[in-house]
Amino acid sequence: MLPRRILLPPLVVIAICCSQLLVPCYGRRGSAPIRAVNLGGWLVTEGWITPRLFSGIPNGDLLDGTQVQLKSVTTGKYLCAEDGGGTIIVANRSAASGWETFRLWRVNEDHFNFKVFSDRFWGMDTSSNGNIVAVATKPGDSETFEIVRNPNNRSLVRIRAPNGSFIQAKSEVLVTPDYTGNQGWGDDDPSVFTMNAFGALQGEFQVTNGWGPDKAPQVMQNHWNTFVVEDDFKFISENGLNAVRIPVGWWIASDPTPPKPFVGGSLDALDKAFAWAKKHGIQVIIDLHAAPGSQNGNEHSASRDGSQEWGKTEANIQQTVGVINFLTARYANWSCLLGIELINEPLAPGVTFDSLSNYYKQGYDAVRSHTADAYVIMSVRLGQADQKELYPMIMDNKYMDVAIDVHYYNLFSDIFNNMTVQQNIDYINKKRASDLNYLLHPSGGPQVFIGEWVAEWQVQGANKSDYKRFAAAQMEVYGRATFGWSYWTLKCQYLHWDLERMIQQGYMALPE
Ligand SMILES: *[C@@H]1O[C@H](CO)[C@@H](O)[C@H](O)[C@H]1NC(C)=O
Ligand SMILES: *[C@@H]1O[C@H](CO)[C@@H](O)[C@H](O)[C@H]1NC(C)=O
Ligand SMILES: *[C@@H]1O[C@H](CO)[C@@H](O)[C@H](O)[C@H]1NC(C)=O
Ligand SMILES: *[C@@H]1O[C@H](CO)[C@@H](O)[C@H](O)[C@H]1NC(C)=O
Ligand SMILES: *[C@@H]1O[C@H](CO)[C@@H](O)[C@H](O)[C@H]1NC(C)=O
Ligand SMILES: *[C@@H]1O[C@H](CO)[C@@H](O)[C@H](O)[C@H]1NC(C)=O
Repeated sequence: MLPRRILLPPLVVIAICCSQLLVPCYGRRGSAPIRAVNLGGWLVTEGWITPRLFSGIPNGDLLDGTQVQLKSVTTGKYLCAEDGGGTIIVANRSAASGWETFRLWRVNEDHFNFKVFSDRFWGMDTSSNGNIVAVATKPGDSETFEIVRNPNNRSLVRIRAPNGSFIQAKSEVLVTPDYTGNQGWGDDDPSVFTMNAFGALQGEFQVTNGWGPDKAPQVMQNHWNTFVVEDDFKFISENGLNAVRIPVGWWIASDPTPPKPFVGGSLDALDKAFAWAKKHGIQVIIDLHAAPGSQNGNEHSASRDGSQEWGKTEANIQQTVGVINFLTARYANWSCLLGIELINEPLAPGVTFDSLSNYYKQGYDAVRSHTADAYVIMSVRLGQADQKELYPMIMDNKYMDVAIDVHYYNLFSDIFNNMTVQQNIDYINKKRASDLNYLLHPSGGPQVFIGEWVAEWQVQGANKSDYKRFAAAQMEVYGRATFGWSYWTLKCQYLHWDLERMIQQGYMALPE
């Protein structure tokens, strides 16, 4: 495309831009600072935002990543992957902790792989006696077990081994797939275990794999069609906002046939978002919220089981650059494309500075190969003390139109637990303001984006005027960010996380 920013003086750019598009126009691409809202929970599922997406999934309490602990009713002891994995499963632990906890990978509604502490999977020891061991590093048919629940008490289970026999705690040190007794569910039945299931994730992996290949496409299509619609863009444009940040998952780049269990269709939804944005004069940030392997182990990065694998190999980084390349190529000709966020919330220390900066350099080049003037947005690492660690890389390389993204929540840390309303507001006015000021210097640095914040806190029983003051304080302080801010999120089951209702109900008012 025409590298407008370099070749043409600004007035010419405005003329071309406005005459071509006949929509509200911001001169050169990138009219920061923005006042934006995130379209969270739309193209990347987050069950806490949209619980209805999960209701009705069979065995919906056993989705991918759910952790289970199993206690033998006969020995009263927990199953344990001895040494954390790599050898036998025993039944001799009186308390359950890491080695006694197994993360489920769901094969279908009643068949699962059991992942142990050291990331190996339950299977049968084929080399000798058939005992249950945790050796395989990848699960296959011989690592696939059926969980049979007592219909009258779903926390009582029996587990059928791949060869068809139920496993039993024959003794404290012998767990074998050879139970042949009755199925009376009695306390004397060594094949019966009480199952404690917890730590469920509710992300895109869980919802698509939970519904399975027959139902997931319909469920997701319905969600994409109804959760965000054109009227929302109209609402956004009429209420003092001028941009959206749209979280997407890496699988969007292989739409319409993404790797299982993901399903196609989110790319079509993103296409629609661009058309609505253009029509209503809204700028768009595409935010790679879920990178392959998961950059933070959370459901919002589509982690399967809480593990965080992103950035560990060059191939994984190349794959991610490919996603950025795909998205930029597709949308670079839309003047409403404000920027591409290369990755959301990479978490240290799992994501190292070296792998992240390696990726950011290649991601920047990928964006620039298609557009000279879309912003490139680089999220800082969570869990990393120095929020300016990316500055030398950005400045030494003379990167243009780069913003760093920081997220400011008065949540997710014990320091907020006992704060009063006024203390929360003071925290914004003093601590956040000074953190932001630190990021805004030196003046040759990147622009600064508060890409996520919310008018929610740990305070119990606050009233509406408390919330209004809190929201107003944040808008005032975050309004100093050179790139602007973006509220999390547009719609949510919880009022304070739902900007549409916050505006409709008078909690927040933005200047037109
Ligand atoms: C499953 O394997 C165990 C151990 O080798 C064996 O004792 C049992 O009979 C097998 N079950 C079936 C149904 O083959
Ligand atoms: C189910 O079984 C567990 C373990 O024996 C027991 O603690 C629990 O009370 C039972 N629940 C019901 C509803 O009977
Ligand atoms: C459990 O059994 C294994 C295998 O015999 C043994 O090495 C381990 O020490 C036992 N642990 C406890 C707590 O009894
Ligand atoms: C960008 O190009 C694609 C493919 O040629 C086209 O479908 C789309 O309408 C274009 N968008 C704009 C805003 O011109
Ligand atoms: C919060 O208050 C509770 C009860 O007063 C106290 O036990 C706790 O230590 C406080 N937490 C913090 C982080 O100050
Ligand atoms: C809301 O609570 C604050 C204390 O946090 C109080 O000062 C104020 O009067 C209350 N406002 C209303 C409308 O009740």
